[in-house]
Amino acid sequence: MTFDKIYQYNFPTIIRFGQGSSNELGDYLKKNNLSRPLIVTDSNVSQLDFFKTITRNLQENKISVEVFDKIHKNPLKSDVYKGTDIFDQTNRDSVIGIGGGAALDVARAIVLRVNHREDLFKYDDLIGGDVYVTNEVPHFITIPTTAGTGSEVGRSAIIADDETHQKKILFSPKLLAKIVFADPLLTMDLPPFITAATGMDAMTHNMEAFLARMPHPLCEGIALEGISLINQSLVRAVNNPDLESRSQMLIASLMGAVAFQKGLGVVHSLAHPLSSLLDTHHGLANAVNIPYGMEFNIEGFEHKFKRIARTMELKEETGEAVVKHLFELNTKINIPHKLRDIGVKNEHIETLADLAFEDFAHPNNPKPVSRENFKQLYSKAL
Ligand SMILES: NC(=O)c1ccc[n+]([C@@H]2O[C@H](COP(=O)([O-])OP(=O)(O)OC[C@H]3O[C@@H](n4cnc5c(N)ncnc54)[C@H](O)[C@@H]3O)[C@@H](O)[C@H]2O)c1
Ligand SMILES: [Fe+2]
Repeated sequence: MTFDKIYQYNFPTIIRFGQGSSNELGDYLKKNNLSRPLIVTDSNVSQLDFFKTITRNLQENKISVEVFDKIHKNPLKSDVYKGTDIFDQTNRDSVIGIGGGAALDVARAIVLRVNHREDLFKYDDLIGGDVYVTNEVPHFITIPTTAGTGSEVGRSAIIADDETHQKKILFSPKLLAKIVFADPLLTMDLPPFITAATGMDAMTHNMEAFLARMPHPLCEGIALEGISLINQSLVRAVNNPDLESRSQMLIASLMGAVAFQKGLGVVHSLAHPLSSLLDTHHGLANAVNIPYGMEFNIEGFEHKFKRIARTMELKEETGEAVVKHLFELNTKINIPHKLRDIGVKNEHIETLADLAFEDFAHPNNPKPVSRENFKQLYSKAL
C-alpha cells in the first residue's frame, strides 16, 4: 500500500446500537426540541407491528407524527417530491427514515430537497452537483430495518429518474444522519428472501471495499471484520434467525457502508443495470453477480484474496476457494447461481453491458473493467 497523495477519511455519526435502542427515539426528539417529525418509510414497513409501536410511543410523548410511505422499491424522483410536499404542507421540523435502503434513501433525498429546490438531479454527485448543497438541512435520524445497504450511516441517496430509470447519486456530508438507532429487534421478522438478498449486499460492500483501489487501512480492517461477521451469521439469520445472528448482520451491514467510502467495484456495476432495466432488487442483483465479479478480480490480487479466505476460515487460502465458498453460501440461502433464474435474457446483455460500463462503481475496482469484460461476465453468469 502506497500513500501517493493526501487522502481524506470520514467516519460516521453517533450510532446507538443494540436491542431496544429504537425506544430511545422519543427522548432524543424531546432533548433536541423536535416535536413534528416526518417519518419516511415504505408501505410494507408502515403496516408492521414494530412500526406501529414506534409511532404510538411518539404520540404518547406528545410528538406530532406524519408518515409518508408512498415510495417505489427502486425509489423515484417523484417519490422525493411528494414526500417534500407533505413535509411542507404539514409543517415538519425533522425527518426520520425507518426502513430498508429504499426508505432511508428517500428520507435522505427529502432532507436535501427541503431547502434545495432546484431540479433534484442538479445535485447529482457525478456531475459535481454536491457543490450546490449549501443550505441548512432538517435534523435527520435513521432507523434501519434491513441488514444490507447500511444507508443509515451513508451520506448519499440513490434515486432513479421516473422516465429513464437511471439511478443518480445525491451526495453531501450534510446528508449524514445526526444519530442512528440500530435495533436488531426490528429485523427479527425479516423474511428469509429479504434477509438473504440484503445480507449478500452487505457482503458485497465489505468485500468490494476491502479490494477497492484507495489506500485506506482503517476501512480495510472494518471490511475484513464485516466479512467475518456475515460469514458467521448470514446462513443462520436466513434459516434459523436468533438475536445474535440478527445483531451480527445489522452491525456488519453498517460496517460495510462505513467501509465503502473506500470505493465499490465491478459487482455493483454489474448489479445496478439489473435494477434500472429489470427492477431487480439491489441485494439480489449483487448476490447473483458476486461470485463472477470476484473471480474476475483474483488475478493480480491473490494476496488480498488470501486474507479474505483466511477471514472466512477456508481450508485453502486462495481466491478460487473464496469464489467456491460464495457459490456455496448462495446455495445455503436459496439465491440462484444464474442470471437467467432472475429474469435476465440473452437479448438484455448488450444493453446491460453498456449501462454497467457507464456505472459509477467500477472505477474504484482494483483492476480496470472494460465494456467487453462486462459482456463476458454477464454471459458467464447467464
Ligand atoms: N444509500 C446507499 O448508500 C445505498 C447503498 C446500497 C443500496 N442502496 C439502495 O437501497 C435500496 C435497497 O434497500 P434494501 O435492500 O434494504 O431493500 P428495501 O428497502 O427495498 O426493502 C426490501 C423489502 O423489505 C421490506 N422490509 C424492510 N424492513 C423489514 C422488516 N423489518 N420486516 C419485514 N420486511 C421488511 C420492505 O418493505 C421491502 O419490501 C435500493 O434502492 C438501493 O439503491 C442505497
Ligand atoms: Fe449495495
